[in-house]
Amino acid sequence: MHIDIQLIPVTPATISSTSVVVIDILRATSVIVHAISQGALEVIPVPTVEEAFQFAKKFPRGTTLLGGERGSKKIEGFDLGNSPREYFAEKVKGKRLILTTTNGTKAFHSVSSGGEVAAGSFFNIGAVGRRCLDLGQDLLIFPSGDEGRFSLEDTVCGGMLIDRILTEGKRLVTLTDASQLAHVLYQRFKENLVESFRLSTHGRDLIERGFEEDLAYCAQVDITNIVPVFREGVIRAHLLPFLSLGSTGVTPVATREGKGEGE
Ligand code: MLT
Repeated sequence: MHIDIQLIPVTPATISSTSVVVIDILRATSVIVHAISQGALEVIPVPTVEEAFQFAKKFPRGTTLLGGERGSKKIEGFDLGNSPREYFAEKVKGKRLILTTTNGTKAFHSVSSGGEVAAGSFFNIGAVGRRCLDLGQDLLIFPSGDEGRFSLEDTVCGGMLIDRILTEGKRLVTLTDASQLAHVLYQRFKENLVESFRLSTHGRDLIERGFEEDLAYCAQVDITNIVPVFREGVIRAHLLPFLSLGSTGVTPVATREGKGEGE
């Protein structure tokens, strides 16, 4: 198994038979994993706000929620922003979520692979690692980055995924130089993931914009066994059968006290 990581989120060429894991820790893939673990039916990631409104018209009223951000803030006319702390069962259970964010939702449309394209976060890192091992294909980790730039927190998460796969020791794994770098970076921050968020550009932006609580929240590791998979424009849950912890995954351990924007 060969593992590569796209350190700069430029659109890769179409990849055949390679599993892809898209990561946007702060905060799109954290939101996607959280919403689906709380019972959201599916997530439709769309690149623009206009497309989000257009998509919503296709579905019966009351079945769909609009979520996402621009400049980290909830979009006018939307139901939810882009804090995972807004995506609890009471709001999202049984609902379809149409999501548009600055980097994360676009990343799903940038990769085209014959293999499976999954959403990764710290919330489901162990499950994603096991899924990659089960599939046994070469792996491309695709950090969403920060408006085309390298992103520290996504790369640290990619490094943790690599670490989990290496630790399983089930397969012969080869790493590119970029994967080695991500793995080394993870070793540096593994005792304090939030530190990497605080050093990152987007982490600092989120603190400035009033979303500091999201940092600790998004740093929770292995709180669900759900692997959201992107297929034909829609993200739905793939639940690992041997670790079934209930139909909608595990309730995140953080408290609900600090709710996200719009609460
Ligand atoms: C993104 O997709 O760029 C992020 O999730 C942005 C954010 O949440 O602030």
